[in-house]
Amino acid sequence: MNLKTISDVDFEGKVVFLRLDLNVPLKDGKITDETRILAALPTIRHILSSTNRIVISSHLGRPKGKFVESLSLAPVGEKLAQLLGVEVLLASDYEKEPIDSLLGQLTKGQLILLENLRFHAGETGNLREFTEKLVKGVDVFVNDAFGAAHRAHASTAGVPALLGKERSYAGLLIEKELTALGGLLSGAKAPFVVVMGGAKVSDKLEVILSLMERCNDIVIGGAMAYTFLKYKGVSVGASRVEDDKLDLVETIYRNADQRGVKIHLPVDHVCAKEFEEFSQPETTTDENIPDGLMGLDIGPQTLDRYKDLVRSASTVLWNGPMGVFEWESFARGSFGIADAMADCSGTTVVGGGDSVACVNLVGLSEKMTHVSTGGGASLEFLEGKTLPGIKPLLN
Ligand code: 3PG
Repeated sequence: MNLKTISDVDFEGKVVFLRLDLNVPLKDGKITDETRILAALPTIRHILSSTNRIVISSHLGRPKGKFVESLSLAPVGEKLAQLLGVEVLLASDYEKEPIDSLLGQLTKGQLILLENLRFHAGETGNLREFTEKLVKGVDVFVNDAFGAAHRAHASTAGVPALLGKERSYAGLLIEKELTALGGLLSGAKAPFVVVMGGAKVSDKLEVILSLMERCNDIVIGGAMAYTFLKYKGVSVGASRVEDDKLDLVETIYRNADQRGVKIHLPVDHVCAKEFEEFSQPETTTDENIPDGLMGLDIGPQTLDRYKDLVRSASTVLWNGPMGVFEWESFARGSFGIADAMADCSGTTVVGGGDSVACVNLVGLSEKMTHVSTGGGASLEFLEGKTLPGIKPLLN
């Protein structure tokens, strides 16, 4: 992949429109996970070393073209100001007050942060009129919003289309993400173990089929495991199953057989009578789940097997939790995978929102080779798609 990056450009005297993914979780106006802000700092600092004329932009949540106070980027602006030691001017109504006039008022030690792009319907609709407002007075576009690279929105696809490829560059985070995730698609060292979890087989079908062309083992956990087990004729009790997706499981097995990939399923489970945080956990003795119980985590025997596979791998990708890790009684499987990855001496990549949250929760993100900032974007990239936010940044 021939990416044009910010290392290829001299920013001296230039006005830069910088798209970031600052879509961070907030609770009562407070940021609960700063990962995406911290990940954006190297690119901001790199540009700031040549010019302070930066317009930073991002989306936050899905406000659907309307102002929603709880989705304001104001707390993110405060955090950026604190981390960078600059004054961050939050441009609230850049539709009314054009960006070039804001730039005229900018002094050294200040930078502009545009209020949530998605407060304007023109962003998700990729409307030309809105895009023209974004690029007013801008010389160079830098995209470092890997998490939004799968969206063909005004700020990710419209801006580079308007400014031209020759004025569009990737930031350091996008470069890092593509190197780490791209490495899994080309030249991952064997044994390559993929740990797949989460709720739905249908969400992961394409990524599983794509990774099957490269990996040796697929380890299945989370609610999707019950659909696999049901396909195999195992009793799954009251577990969550996608009954209409059993044909997808068949497709996965057919592909696995053709490619010699081993699929591993849970051999025991931690269950409960209800989907409730404080339900009494019950561990099965084998792969069968009795009537009236639902699986909420992989069991201890399964975890031991999965840990052995992960620890002895040369490459591991983990996407999707093994159980309901937000609830203590059903977190052991996911926490155990995070531990095993931290112990693995090979390349370890965590991709996708929930597994990343889990690794952060147990404080092991520093032990991984790469923790992706992209949820949907990392999945679509691993499916082998060319993302609309990345395409204009390629030579
Ligand atoms: C994410 O959280 O995955 C990204 O910020 C993209 O957000 P979106 O799914 O609302 O486009």
